[in-house]
Amino acid sequence: MTERIVLAYSGGLDTSVAIGWIGEATGAEVIAVAVDVGQGGESLETIRQRALGCGAVEAYVADASDEFANEYCMPTLKANALYQGHYPLVSAISRPVIVKHLVKAAREFGATTVAHGCTGKGNDQVRFEVGIQTLGPDLKCIAPVRDLALTRDKAIAFAEEKGLPIETTKKNPYSIDQNVWGRAVETGYLEDIWNAPTKDIYDYTATPEFPPAPDEVTISFEAGVPVAIDGVKVTPLQAIKELNRRAGAQGVGRIDVVEDRLVGIKSREIYEAPGAMALITAHKHLEDITVEREQARFKATVGQRWSELVYDGQWFSPLKRSLDAFIEDTQRYVTGDIRMVLHGGQAIVNGRRSDTSLYDFDLATYDTGDTFDQSMARGFIELWGMSAKVASGRDIRVAGK
Ligand code: ARG
Repeated sequence: MTERIVLAYSGGLDTSVAIGWIGEATGAEVIAVAVDVGQGGESLETIRQRALGCGAVEAYVADASDEFANEYCMPTLKANALYQGHYPLVSAISRPVIVKHLVKAAREFGATTVAHGCTGKGNDQVRFEVGIQTLGPDLKCIAPVRDLALTRDKAIAFAEEKGLPIETTKKNPYSIDQNVWGRAVETGYLEDIWNAPTKDIYDYTATPEFPPAPDEVTISFEAGVPVAIDGVKVTPLQAIKELNRRAGAQGVGRIDVVEDRLVGIKSREIYEAPGAMALITAHKHLEDITVEREQARFKATVGQRWSELVYDGQWFSPLKRSLDAFIEDTQRYVTGDIRMVLHGGQAIVNGRRSDTSLYDFDLATYDTGDTFDQSMARGFIELWGMSAKVASGRDIRVAGK
């Protein structure tokens, strides 16, 4: 029986050419799998037909947009996950869900190998292959760009020679990856890290120098998950989409960073994640009133470690799963409403309310009628500083000798 290879297919030039390229190099049949993670653009049926036109024996489309929102974006929101304090893990969280569908398709179509279009320099090759190793330990991996010398020039020549149904003349100088959680743009002109991004780079966000009138929005959460916007019930996917639209129109969620890749390279990336950044901001502010202080402080370090694990391709690892359990436990009381103003590239919270809030007006108020007994503070401070005071006494004693 001819060997079969499942290819993660985007519909673009590289993966379209990869279908025939893999076939010629290995003699295997190629099954193209496109996964909808809310990336928008062309219809998946168009993409499916193109895969068949490029020589795939089967082309399979998985609608994973709700699954991606529920099981990948929501954990990222609960963790307030920002790699290096900036990047909401847009591409990093899409790889594990794509892997899940690739492995499923490999089983269904009797494939022995999974292929992806990543280069040998980035994080995504690691995320794909570590994920595949974990979910399908018997499956082999192959990356035609990395392993079969499929360069851009060769891809264009191959597509033209074979008359593949894909455009080869449209020059996009950037490498782009996008899904409902955000959009990542790199390479080309952006590789000079002093160059400011030009306006044409952006697609999810409007340019904030010409802002429309401020947009006030109320987001309701239940146990850390958005459930309504301005009182209208929403699913997680709808919440992200609606805020992509509204926060995007105000230029919210533009990020320009040089980040530390897993493979040891520093690289410049432009992100736009209007919905994700508005949601993370709102969620964090709701946690500020509903999560107890020590738990909140510890959760911040857990969230940071969680972000690193996910960035580094460890989505399916035991530690990531254990941290998920901790984070989930912290979300028990993260229920309530956050009001924020979207304007001029910013999402600024200006109101919060929650039935499970720890904010106690009577303790906090400076007006008469407060319930806080200020006389307790003196003794507390005495004891709080005791240890450092004893140590400093020793410093003076030893230095004095
Ligand atoms: N640097 C980001 C990451 O590793 C995004 C990579 C996405 N790819 C792209 N072509 N921009 O998660």
